[in-house]
Amino acid sequence: MIISLIAAVGKNRVIGANGDLPWQLPDDMKFFSKTTRGHHVLMGRKNFESIPEKYRPLPHRPNIVVTRNKAFEAPNIIVESSIQRGIEKAREAGETELFIIGGGEIYNQTIALADRLYITHVNANPDGETLFPEFDDTKWRKTELLNHPKDDVHNLSFSICVYDKI
Ligand SMILES: NC(=O)c1ccc[n+]([C@@H]2O[C@H](COP(=O)([O-])OP(=O)(O)OC[C@H]3O[C@@H](n4cnc5c(N)ncnc54)[C@H](OP(=O)(O)O)[C@@H]3O)[C@@H](O)[C@H]2O)c1
Repeated sequence: MIISLIAAVGKNRVIGANGDLPWQLPDDMKFFSKTTRGHHVLMGRKNFESIPEKYRPLPHRPNIVVTRNKAFEAPNIIVESSIQRGIEKAREAGETELFIIGGGEIYNQTIALADRLYITHVNANPDGETLFPEFDDTKWRKTELLNHPKDDVHNLSFSICVYDKI
């Protein structure tokens, strides 16, 4: 099973502000949705709760939420008490590519385990308290998938790259 992280990251590494995303980029959301569809996704409890209620759990993919709160429950998700248990859950189910979808605490604890990173590089330096971990891009083979300009519905340009661990 491949372990992949998928994230949209500002030039200053910011990924979250006030518990939410710092931007609205519908075409990036479509890329996220298409790429992760049909695969297990693993996320932190805070990220799960930041998803508007009507969109969660994310459809057409098993949602694994990690929390240390033994009382936590929500309909139609898999709750695990550790990241390792969440990863094992996906492996036991026969998953081929597990997507770690954040947020910051979870990316920090899993980047060392990752085989692949899907990074949307957002051309902005937003304010925000949640950062993507630094990574040494000489240790990853980079493939640029697309460049997206600003347009009527995207007030920021972005490019989407895949990094495979060398
Ligand atoms: N730009 C992007 O691509 C992107 C993607 C995802 C999220 N985000 C943003 O990131 C922010 C949320 O990130 P965050 O760092 O605040 O929180 P988070 O990583 O989503 O969740 C943290 C929570 O996960 C649980 N947790 C963390 N490590 C654990 C472990 N080892 N074992 C069991 N449970 C564990 C804990 O839940 P309990 O407190 O319940 O124990 C912890 O409070 C939001 O602003 C969100 O919008 C951005």
